Amino acid sequence: MSADLRTVKLCLLGFGAVARGFCDLLERQQDALGRKHGLRVLITGAGTRRGSLLAPEGVTAGAALAAAPKGAPLPEPPRPPRDLLTASGADVLVELTVMEEDYAPAATGHIETAFDLGMDVVTANKGPIAWNWRRIAAKAAATGRRIRFESTVMDGLPVFSLLEFTLVDCRLLGFDAVFNSTTNFIIDAMAHGAPFDTALKHTQDEGFAEADPSHDIDGWDAACKAAALANVAMDAGITPADVEKQSLRDVPLERIRRAYAEGKRLRLVTSVWRDGGVDDDGTADMDGGADGAAELDIDHPLAPLGEESLGVVLHTDLMGDVVVAELGALVPQTAYGVYADLLHLCRTT
Ligand SMILES: NC(=O)c1ccc[n+]([C@@H]2O[C@H](COP(=O)([O-])OP(=O)(O)OC[C@H]3O[C@@H](n4cnc5c(N)ncnc54)[C@H](OP(=O)(O)O)[C@@H]3O)[C@@H](O)[C@H]2O)c1
Repeated sequence: MSADLRTVKLCLLGFGAVARGFCDLLERQQDALGRKHGLRVLITGAGTRRGSLLAPEGVTAGAALAAAPKGAPLPEPPRPPRDLLTASGADVLVELTVMEEDYAPAATGHIETAFDLGMDVVTANKGPIAWNWRRIAAKAAATGRRIRFESTVMDGLPVFSLLEFTLVDCRLLGFDAVFNSTTNFIIDAMAHGAPFDTALKHTQDEGFAEADPSHDIDGWDAACKAAALANVAMDAGITPADVEKQSLRDVPLERIRRAYAEGKRLRLVTSVWRDGGVDDDGTADMDGGADGAAELDIDHPLAPLGEESLGVVLHTDLMGDVVVAELGALVPQTAYGVYADLLHLCRTT
């Protein structure tokens, strides 16, 4: 490869499914990154709670993957995130840890530390954007750093970048979204006769749901995504706690079957609307948000989004209603969102 490529150094925090998918994509795109974008992307650090990898001279994404075969921890002992970030000398933190029960202060801390060290950030972790967006945005502005997070709400589907770069000057008035594919799977399985517990077990066996699926089932995952989108695109200043939730456990089987019998589809739809006013603190006055089961006519744009599909109807002032959907929201799509965010940062530096 040409010697005049620009080297971009990454430190990965979290080395699970998405990080591995992202490394795999980087490896496959290595030639295109050089040829089309003049970039050589190297990993200088990676860390989890169980292990780490420090390579300040940089290794390829493929070499990082080879250092920790699937299921195995990274080869070196764990390092505190600040130490790893500092020693990695990275240009960009790729934050792919999980949202914790205590609302992601760890991930928010990782991001703030990276800003302090002069790094930009890409994350797929919705926790910091849902719970701490104002704090993060203020810190980014104060340090002159940038953060991108396309994969946080729709597994790579371009929603934030669509609003920022394509729907120029449009004001987002509200949105209706199918944010969670685990519940899609369960609803569709129940519609075909499976009881809730059987449908849930099937999603766990297939690897779609967590061992503890309550985050998906009880509406918290959708509420986090709604808060993240509303905070960034509507300056909502809300948290997932402000979004009214409905647990799929409380939706009777008969209701799902009746919807199908009537030619409709039952979906868990999360809606957020702007009231039009301004709150005392200067932020948009929100109608709050609600996540609830809805019988959708079959020609509603969100009705066909079952199983691993996700989508959102964006209600805008200048462009009317815009529908964006993804017919396979899986790890490769999430990894692509991280990749696209990284490329955006690199191409605009
Ligand atoms: N999977 C998807 O399709 C998808 C879609 C959209 C968004 N996301 C988001 O992407 C992020 C990564 O998801 P994933 O599926 O890759 O999760 P995962 O497979 O469970 O991997 C999470 C990784 O983070 C590490 N980790 C967790 N807490 C940590 C901490 N406090 N400090 C350092 N490392 C930590 C874990 O390793 P240790 O246990 O060793 O610490 C593991 O390597 C999550 O925030 C998730 O919500 C995922």
